[in-house]
Amino acid sequence: MRILLAGGAGYIGSHTALALLKAGHDVVIVDNYCNSSPEAVRRVEELAGRSVEVFEADVRNPSAVLKSMTDKPVDGVIHFAGLKAVGESVRMPLAYYRNNIDTTLTLLECMGQAGIKNIVFSSSATVYGEEAPVPYLESMPRGRCSNPYGWTKSMMEQILEDAALADHELSVVLLRYFNPVGAHESGRIGEDPLGTPNNLMPYISQVAVGRRDLLTVFGGDYPTPDGTCRRDYIHVMDLAEGHVKAVEYGAGRTGVDVFNLGAGVPYSVLQMIRAFEAASGVSVKYVIGDRRAGDLPEFWADAKKASRVLGWQTSRTLEDMCRDAWNWQKNNPMGYPKS
Ligand code: NAD
Ligand code: UFG
Repeated sequence: MRILLAGGAGYIGSHTALALLKAGHDVVIVDNYCNSSPEAVRRVEELAGRSVEVFEADVRNPSAVLKSMTDKPVDGVIHFAGLKAVGESVRMPLAYYRNNIDTTLTLLECMGQAGIKNIVFSSSATVYGEEAPVPYLESMPRGRCSNPYGWTKSMMEQILEDAALADHELSVVLLRYFNPVGAHESGRIGEDPLGTPNNLMPYISQVAVGRRDLLTVFGGDYPTPDGTCRRDYIHVMDLAEGHVKAVEYGAGRTGVDVFNLGAGVPYSVLQMIRAFEAASGVSVKYVIGDRRAGDLPEFWADAKKASRVLGWQTSRTLEDMCRDAWNWQKNNPMGYPKS
């Protein structure tokens, strides 16, 4: 199949591009590089030994998106193109609603014009909301989100569901990611956040490599086994392979399907620090600080549906996640070369 990745130069998109190429699919990427680098795509091509067609464009630009969909026939779309920093979304809600909702509407409208009927969407565990019991199951309703980023995901799921109700030929697969971490085992592609990392694993890696002095653990008094928050960390290559299964599953089907993509096992912040230290042999200096606004004490996936229906499950361990995150960070201490 020929798959269009909107936002395919980013962290999850680049790893998914590689997994798709390795599985024998062709890849076309539309990205404006607002949070990524063309170097990521170049390295994907190098690792796959195959080329990727790239359209440098804003996914909110209908003529550019339509061109990327009609130059050569496209069989499916995976929509990664979004802004994703939770704290920034609180400060700049309109930018988040504008970018994330507009990219989704533009993709759907252009797919309609190009006759493409298969879309996979990057959603998030955050849509289960603040009050859902753990583990999260796909059959639970979407809940109240604690920030505009989360609301954009919830709204985009609704938009996609409504589009599928109106077009009986459309297939929508909503993938609710838990906490993606790690990098491709080569250490050539990985997570390269702009500025100070918001997420735990890149922060730990940057302390280990000496780019930052100290990790602050956000809260040590949660009602969890060691007092720090617990999350369901998933290796980004397991997640990437989940997208291959999802887009293949969506081809020729209709209607909406929802899948949790997580490992189904929670680890605490302190467990993550210790696992990283063991895998890297480097100590990570940290202090326990205040809680971060909006954090939930713990959540993890019930990931059985993806296993049953997609035939997908995680195969990489916590040690693999930490080893590969470190391999990427130590080989690319400042991330991708900046032009
Ligand atoms: P990322 O920022 O690395 O990738 C997003 C890509 O989209 C970037 O390459 C960026 O340049 C591009 N982009 C954004 N807006 C665009 C626009 N208007 N036009 C063209 N390109 C645009 O993020 P990621 O971690 O790879 O996440 C991918 C998707 O998965 C996002 O939608 C994110 O919300 C979602 N998600 C991520 C996580 C996570 O922890 N990383 C968790 C749940 C869901
Ligand atoms: N944490 C720290 N210190 C840091 C960064 C994070 O202690 O410097 C802690 C957080 O408090 C949390 C855990 O590490 O307990 C994980 O935090 P992340 O920011 O890495 O991840 P979140 O669970 O907050 O959020 C992530 C994505 C969201 C997504 C959510 C659910 O960033 O986009 O998972 O999928 F919505």
